[in-house]
Amino acid sequence: MALYDALGAAYARTRQPDPRIAAQIHAAVGDATDVLNVGAGGGSYEPPRTVLAVEPSQVMISQRPAGGAPAVRAVAEHLPLRDGAVDAVMALLTVRHWVDLAAGIRELRRVARRRVVVLTWDQRIFRERFWLVRDYLPEAAAFDDSRAVPTDRLIDLLGGGRQEPVRIPHDCVDGFGAAYWRRPHAYLDPQVRAGISMLAQTGDDALAPGLTRLADDLAAGRWHTRHAELLGLEAMDVGYRLIVADH
Ligand SMILES: C[S@@+](CC[C@H](N)C(=O)[O-])C[C@H]1O[C@@H](n2cnc3c(N)ncnc32)[C@H](O)[C@@H]1O
Repeated sequence: MALYDALGAAYARTRQPDPRIAAQIHAAVGDATDVLNVGAGGGSYEPPRTVLAVEPSQVMISQRPAGGAPAVRAVAEHLPLRDGAVDAVMALLTVRHWVDLAAGIRELRRVARRRVVVLTWDQRIFRERFWLVRDYLPEAAAFDDSRAVPTDRLIDLLGGGRQEPVRIPHDCVDGFGAAYWRRPHAYLDPQVRAGISMLAQTGDDALAPGLTRLADDLAAGRWHTRHAELLGLEAMDVGYRLIVADH
């Protein structure tokens, strides 16, 4: 909570929903009649049928758009709703922040009548495929290793489910961790880094050597030579996964 009260102020500058990712999330939520958004942050990706948002950080709640669903200040581990209160529950880019993952997932299942949708990423794939953490900022990846949730574990906790890759467009509007995979200069911008919790929490001192190498490689054209194949890609699978579990 304190974390997102601190990070949240920077978030609004770079974190806006990407329409292509929104379409995929809304398709996964399907025709649910009412939706609860847990770990809702500023309300990105909420389908129109969202009836309530649960979010512990007041700073994040204050960024919700006027006219959106009401928000209650609470945590996933203790949802203030009765059993089967909503048709579907979604939890986007939030589960790795929870203090007690198993309790939080139990709560999602308790309040969902039909479907739970979780957006997360597979840290193993992320580390292998995403050049920023693989080649320049292994400290940021190491920081995330401690809180990454293996997708198999999530699916187990959810009692089964399917997962689908969420490919990140090269011009992704939402500035999360890998959003700038084809726009490497962006990671040199402190405002961009401030909107990415993995980088903001690792801290600029620890990131400085890797960022200097990235700046040098960009200036010398080495990054573009090494990653020429990326420049022709429209979208990339860097490990983001939507998990859809039905009761
Ligand atoms: C990366 S943000 C994602 C916000 C939003 N779901 C999105 O996709 O834009 C992670 C959010 O999880 C929230 N969070 C942290 N711990 C939580 C918990 N135990 N239960 C529910 N939400 C939590 C944070 O306050 C933050 O708003």
